[in-house]
Amino acid sequence: VLDVGTLPIRIEGKEVWFLDQRALPARVEYFKANDLESTCFAIKEMVIRGAPSIGVAAAFALAKDAINHADKVASIYALLDRLKFSRQQLEKTRPTAVNLFWATSAIFALAERDVAEIPGLSPTQLSRILWQRAEALLEEHIEHNRVLSEYGAKLVSENAAILTHCNAGSLAACGWGTALGVIRSAHFAGLKPQVYVDETRPRNQGGKITVWELERDGIPVTLICDSVAPYLMSQKKIDLIIVGADRIALNGDTANKVGTYMLALSAFHHQIPFYVAAPSSTIDRSIAGGAEIAIEERNQKELTHCGDVLLTTPAAQALNLAFDVTPAAFISAIITEQGVLAPPFEKTIAKLSQSALNGNNLRTAGV
Ligand code: MRU
Repeated sequence: VLDVGTLPIRIEGKEVWFLDQRALPARVEYFKANDLESTCFAIKEMVIRGAPSIGVAAAFALAKDAINHADKVASIYALLDRLKFSRQQLEKTRPTAVNLFWATSAIFALAERDVAEIPGLSPTQLSRILWQRAEALLEEHIEHNRVLSEYGAKLVSENAAILTHCNAGSLAACGWGTALGVIRSAHFAGLKPQVYVDETRPRNQGGKITVWELERDGIPVTLICDSVAPYLMSQKKIDLIIVGADRIALNGDTANKVGTYMLALSAFHHQIPFYVAAPSSTIDRSIAGGAEIAIEERNQKELTHCGDVLLTTPAAQALNLAFDVTPAAFISAIITEQGVLAPPFEKTIAKLSQSALNGNNLRTAGV
């Protein structure tokens, strides 16, 4: 069995468990997500996090919700109504990662199509189809991440010092990883990368999760505070930077964890390659540029406190934006499962196959 890294989702029969990423690295604990409410809570509170993983979690949530309601609804149309409601609840959890909306709209549109096209389809049958599609989506992510990582590894030279931000590993990307997937593929190809990881204030996904994942793979890793990165670049300690993405506009502007933009600016100044790695489902075909990306604002307490310890004055007002947008001009290439996209991204993104962007590839699953 191929080791794809630690998966964020564990399926046991028809039970869904998330590895509780809030507890890492101290404890490996699982969180039961067997209904809509618990999944919405888990996404909002970042039990499960990372754009691709959130999308797959939402797909399982819809499938599980259909299973939970199949016996209770009066008709297949009533089940569709319920799924519409569930989809809306899921879409309220986190606004920036497009993969959530990609997964919910693809799964829902296919369910509507099934109801229209399969005569006599029962609620139980539809719920089984949805479950198979969620499983197919999980498998597809692992495959896409592995393929994009192989492409990305070709951009990595031997003994490269790589800087990454936040966590774009197997836990965030639902198997293998995206930015961290590229690093893993380079490592397993014998290229001996060494990695600098930004701690990634305020939730410390870098320090808590990325360091943990790299250590498990035996990849040399050094934790740094976010603000030292430009200085390290000036000292020629960084050969390349690679980050994941939460939403990419048609022109290549990329939303990613807050702090990414300053890395890209600094890399541009120091003439260091700055790569974004993401499956093509992270590209939002409905937006032309980054100005249209909704940026999540999270609870001030993530900034003002460490756990329950107050880090500022009791009256301090904080602005806790969870993401920023890096203009395409500062991105050297976007690494996808369909290949490495070079600027100008308007042109290279437009050439990507549509099917990977609209859920068509799930059409055959389960029917
Ligand atoms: O807020 P998070 O932890 O869900 O943020 C997502 C991220 O981990 C990063 O922005 C990542 O680079 C994109 S997801 C692989």
